[in-house]
Amino acid sequence: MTNATITGWGKALPPSVLTNSDLEKIMDTSDEWITSRSGIKERRISHVETSDMATIAGFRALAAAGLEPSDIDLIIVATCSPDTLIPSAAAYVQAKLGATNAAAVDLNAACSGFIYSLVFGANMIRGGTNRRVLVIGAEKLHSYIDFTDRSTSVLFGDGAGAVVLEPTEGDEGLLSSELGMDGESAEFLCIPGFGTVGDRVPDLPSEVGVQMDGQEVFRRAVTMMGDSSVRVVEEAGLDFEDVDILIPHQANQRIIDATARRIKLASDQVFMNIHAYGNTSAATIPIALTEALEQGRIRPGANIVFAAFGGGLSW
Ligand code: UT7
Repeated sequence: MTNATITGWGKALPPSVLTNSDLEKIMDTSDEWITSRSGIKERRISHVETSDMATIAGFRALAAAGLEPSDIDLIIVATCSPDTLIPSAAAYVQAKLGATNAAAVDLNAACSGFIYSLVFGANMIRGGTNRRVLVIGAEKLHSYIDFTDRSTSVLFGDGAGAVVLEPTEGDEGLLSSELGMDGESAEFLCIPGFGTVGDRVPDLPSEVGVQMDGQEVFRRAVTMMGDSSVRVVEEAGLDFEDVDILIPHQANQRIIDATARRIKLASDQVFMNIHAYGNTSAATIPIALTEALEQGRIRPGANIVFAAFGGGLSW
């Protein structure tokens, strides 16, 4: 049976760094608090739009796969911070890449968006609709950040990562997956004032800004990322000893540590780069995957588990 496998990867991080000590100067916070509560030391702030970062990551993933933009027949951009609502970020990316043979669509599942997109893209290949799919996670979250709210503003950053999916008849590729949503708990993590609920006015309403019940989201993230990982590993017919690396959504070092403990993974089986970029929502996993490959942490044939949890509440 035809499966879909990752053949290219790349990332794009804006050069401007916002450190914890920078934040100390504009709000009542401390490097000690941010580091001990989240593991974050610094994050990137983009001077260009979401689609610009997505395009750079996309070009790099295509180069890694040895493909041209014209080889791609579907682009999925996982984002909750598109440049505009219409056109989609994916439309801009298609034009900037010159991927003239590709259909293109945005997917919003907040922090779980990359995994949703990966599964959707893989199934388009498995079903025979598409042959080469570019899946990108890209966010310019600082546009939503209310820098007077210290409880959320210290957590997020900007960036993009991408993978190319291609068909394979071998035994590699996407082995199993689980996607889920608890829409009834959406209030625990949301940007409530943006969309048709808002007034049609040029000034953004004050509800535009991330609102989060951190402890509630923390508790659910550990449970859902852990339990969901157990189910997909079982469904793939594997044990956790067979898992070479867990690449989790990077929202909080303590969530990642607690998830790893819940499923009894050793620290060398878990990839973490949250200290450098903070939470880039849909972009954390493709950025982390790219860095794990750059660091030689992933060898051909490795078994990788991706896990994410975020707004929706999605996993
Ligand atoms: O990617 C989407 C998913 N998102 C997540 O998974 C995030 C999940 N939640 C978390 O990561 C954590 O809950 C946070 C990092 C957001 C917060 O950590 P916490 O240990 O749950 O802290 P807290 O919210 O209970 O706040 C503790 C204290 C409060 O002070 P009081 O009321 O105890 O006096 C806050 O006012 O820390 C205070 N505080 C801060 N202090 C300094 C909150 N933000 C800050 C800050 N600097 N930036």
